[in-house]
Amino acid sequence: MPELKANKEGLIAQLKAIVGQVGLVTDPQAQANYTTDWLGKWHGQVPVVVRPANTQEVAAVMRVCHALRTPVVPQGGNTGMSGGATPDSSGAQVIVSTNRMNVIRAVDPVNNTMTVESGVILAHAQQAALDVQRYFPMSLGAEGSCTVGGNLATNAGGIAVLRYGNMRDLVLGLEVVLPDGRIWDGLRALRKDNTGYDLRGLFVGSEGTLGIITGAVLKLFAQPTARAAAWVGAASLEQLVTLLTRLQASCGERLTAFEMMSAPALALVLAHVQDTRAPLLEAHAFNALIELSDTDGAGLHAMLENTLAQALAEGVISDAALPATQTQSVALWKLREGISQAQVRAGKVIKHDIALPISSLADFVAKADQAVHASAKKHGIAIVNFGHLGDGNLHYNVLLPAELSAPAVKEATLLFNRAVHDLVTTFKGSISAEHGVGQLRRDELKHYKSPIELEMMMCIKRAFDPNQIMNPGKLL
Ligand code: FAD
Ligand code: MLT
Ligand code: ZN
Repeated sequence: MPELKANKEGLIAQLKAIVGQVGLVTDPQAQANYTTDWLGKWHGQVPVVVRPANTQEVAAVMRVCHALRTPVVPQGGNTGMSGGATPDSSGAQVIVSTNRMNVIRAVDPVNNTMTVESGVILAHAQQAALDVQRYFPMSLGAEGSCTVGGNLATNAGGIAVLRYGNMRDLVLGLEVVLPDGRIWDGLRALRKDNTGYDLRGLFVGSEGTLGIITGAVLKLFAQPTARAAAWVGAASLEQLVTLLTRLQASCGERLTAFEMMSAPALALVLAHVQDTRAPLLEAHAFNALIELSDTDGAGLHAMLENTLAQALAEGVISDAALPATQTQSVALWKLREGISQAQVRAGKVIKHDIALPISSLADFVAKADQAVHASAKKHGIAIVNFGHLGDGNLHYNVLLPAELSAPAVKEATLLFNRAVHDLVTTFKGSISAEHGVGQLRRDELKHYKSPIELEMMMCIKRAFDPNQIMNPGKLL
């Protein structure tokens, strides 16, 4: 025990010499913001949270951790949904938080790029683009607190992937501190660069297991100045998929978001999020929130209205409402973005983050409902199905009663994960679409990935992180 204490004090002293007192969090109460995740599901323990101010300090911190073989958990905004940024309970790991690394280094409106430190909050990056009449399209419910580094490390998705792609599609260059403290300057602002292996691509989605992303060159786009939204009710998921293909045909790339909420997901938000009300008079089995955007507003609303009117006339959808004001539009988005919070308030949630070919979505959901119906009914469990339908990404979640005991939650999780993920595999889908594998789906990944894929991933991990200090217990 005295040896452990001496080690801990030695480590803290070395880290303090790099980042100063302002860059350390040693008080256990203050550490709680870092050691518990957003869902309140994972809790860890650390001797210290380190908050370097810049890339050089991250590099020096990593040199110390590498030499002492101290495991490191990189953390951005701590909004992740898979426990990827939460340390274990051993007290041996340290959190390296990027929350002081929030400088927008450069904005280049001619090259349509922006270079940022990885701790920049996503909403601040969006604003920096708007300040030069450009647009950074990554958008998700946690954008007021998640960071660009966290978005990159999880290859985040969100509500505009349909048009702009996920985080992997939005980054041109990276700066990364490797596990031994060396700095890779890959901050290239190029749209063409074929000089060997795609190292940038390796770090995107690596969930802090290969190094710490400290900077990024992001792509910017023309700023959409006009938007048109609609809320749609339909009797089946198949009908919403038909509507999606029609909108793609009639509106082309103007179709920016196509988000789905099943009736139970909407009911949950109406019950648990204040100042919300149903947009349509009657309840529908499936709802969609649709948005078009363009740099020229002429005809945008008419385009949406006409496609919906035709779909309504042909019985493809059951009802639709188009917001007349910005306030009404914000109210619709509040319904969509309130789902995460509503689930946390309503009970214990088994989260699924699956991707399927869009053409298989309706069939998948019908079969999944069938597979889980009997157990769900028996245990008083609700299926809260919602997600980014336009990307083929569903959160086919299972909501358990709040009072369910921990062993019963564990048993239900194993049961429902197996039922849902087996079916996903049958449809050649993915069990991890946008939230990351973290610690939540680590065992599932092992279960479903082929041995050859796992082996290739392990080879990469060993090459970058021979001492195995980067985010142990996550992803692999
Ligand atoms: P953290 O939670 O701090 O970390 C996430 C992972 O990235 C961890 O493994 C961590 O170790 C690693 N990491 C963080 N920073 C770095 C770095 N600089 N270098 C290396 N590794 C790093 N996600 C979506 O994709 N789509 C959504 O629509 C969406 N909606 C959300 C809505 C709500 C209300 C909430 C709370 C979350 C939502 N998320 C969504 C999940 C989450 O916001 C994203 O995963 C986000 O990208 C995480 O960013 P973060 O900075 O909070 O990362
Ligand atoms: C969403 O789509 O709202 C997010 O991914 C968050 C969640 O799954 O709760
Ligand atoms: Zn999502």
